[in-house]
Amino acid sequence: MDLFEEFFQPLTLGKLELPNRLVMAPMTRSRAYGGLVDDLTAQYYAQRAQAGLIITEATQVSEIGQGYIQTPGLHSDEQIQAWRKVTDAVHAAGGAIVAQLVHCGRIGHPVLYAGGAVPVAPSPVGSGEVLFTPDGLLEHPVPREMTGDDIARTIADFADAARNAVQAGFDGVELHGANGFLLHQFLADGSNRRTDGYGGSIAGRIRFTLEVVEAVAAAVGPERVGLRLSPGITYNGIAESDTADLYRALVRALAPTPLAYLHVSETITRDVTWLIRQEWPGALLLCPHPTADSFPATPATGAAALREGAADAIALATMWLANPDLPARIRAGGPYNEADPGTFYGGDHRGYTDYPTLEDLA
Ligand SMILES: Cc1cc2nc3c(=O)[nH]c(=O)nc-3n(C[C@H](O)[C@H](O)[C@H](O)COP(=O)(O)O)c2cc1C
Repeated sequence: MDLFEEFFQPLTLGKLELPNRLVMAPMTRSRAYGGLVDDLTAQYYAQRAQAGLIITEATQVSEIGQGYIQTPGLHSDEQIQAWRKVTDAVHAAGGAIVAQLVHCGRIGHPVLYAGGAVPVAPSPVGSGEVLFTPDGLLEHPVPREMTGDDIARTIADFADAARNAVQAGFDGVELHGANGFLLHQFLADGSNRRTDGYGGSIAGRIRFTLEVVEAVAAAVGPERVGLRLSPGITYNGIAESDTADLYRALVRALAPTPLAYLHVSETITRDVTWLIRQEWPGALLLCPHPTADSFPATPATGAAALREGAADAIALATMWLANPDLPARIRAGGPYNEADPGTFYGGDHRGYTDYPTLEDLA
């Protein structure tokens, strides 16, 4: 019998038939020089094609949606062509890949935009965080409050980027509603102080996310769309005073839409995951919270979550970063390469495409 056999059961997500339940979680690698992925990116993702599903690094839907240096976009023809190489390489290796679409909102800085614009957000509330640049750390400015026109334009940008993703050969998209970026800034009362229909009550704060989901589902089909959430996280200066009620209302409102999946990045306890599991009729991916004895999350943490029925598939990040042949290693009972945090962001092939497989080592 396979070790961790629960990972090696097939799973249907929308129109995708995954051969296993090991998902590669989204990871920004900051090697998209000029906003473009390249042959090295294609090699990196293709090396990890044994994953049941690969979710790409966060990819901005517009110029003003960028939040970090050297991240890729999906809003120009050149970017679509560049991503085509990646999706072709992953498919040729037998894998499936969706693009994580992000608008970073207030997690932005004028130096990232050609025109030096000020980042936009639901309300003029600063993140209190900084942007890393080769010239040092720059404080995020207080963002400009989005107008009704900005909101409509941004929803259209998400739909356009999803169409671009399909044109680039992706099997679908994951909307980034987690980790304190724009969707999350609307959800959380700490960052959303609006008094119009997109703020205030929970019904108001979930409206932007629902409208983005609806527009993207209409553009490419709901079966090609996933949504990532991170209830309770405090990353990027985010603050929610009503986590359980907020996510219950959001997931209830999403439930009639047959999305490919919801993806929970767990940061606090499993309580909110269970709440979402109960409210959500579709497939649930889980990036399990690390525990004191397992940081980052390990295959054992993930298998335990599958066994107790908390999710349908497990998304791991760091383990995939360092182990391109993760399923083979899990089957073999390890050993596992250790990730080198010094090469997580930026640089070249080192710490990117040179982690050996078990076969390489043999
Ligand atoms: C290098 C790195 C980059 C990441 N970039 C993203 C990202 O672009 N989008 C996202 O939703 N999460 C991102 N994350 C968070 C991971 O998807 C995941 O939630 C987190 O690392 C916990 O999983 P783990 O314990 O398996 O590493 C990143 C994590 C790492 C380590």
